[in-house]
Amino acid sequence: MRRALPILMMLAATGLSASAPADTKDMKALYQRSCAMCHGEDGSGRGPNGQRLGGKDLANPRWQARTRDSQMVKAILKGKDSMPAFGAQMSEADALKLVTEVIRPMAAKKH
Ligand code: HEC
Repeated sequence: MRRALPILMMLAATGLSASAPADTKDMKALYQRSCAMCHGEDGSGRGPNGQRLGGKDLANPRWQARTRDSQMVKAILKGKDSMPAFGAQMSEADALKLVTEVIRPMAAKKH
């Protein structure tokens, strides 16, 4: 576990600098590129072997039910605790699309 953190931070840094804002229209690709290293491909916050990646479980239906789109958008644009801010890389409209097209459907898929 102690070794996982520097690797995770490296991955995160690479992901951040690699994500060009030009082609943010494909929200699923954007998620896989910029968010999956912390939140998991399925949003569960876990990697392919079930290991915890450090991001929140975005697929949790109870959390989703009590969380507004606007709160998620704010966290994406401004960051929250150890979650980095993405406001320099995407517009508010793009962040909202990420929420409605990628994050919201994750809850339905999981349960
Ligand atoms: C470096 C790891 C990391 C990356 C990259 C990352 N997140 Fe997060 N994210 C976190 C952590 C940690 C939290 C939990 C923050 C908290 O609630 O204290 C979080 C929380 C969130 C939340 C919930 C905020 C709330 O109000 O509870 C959303 C939504 C979210 N992330 C979406 C995204 C999206 C979309 C991306 C990609 C554009 C992304 N995250 C990239 C680590 C990350």
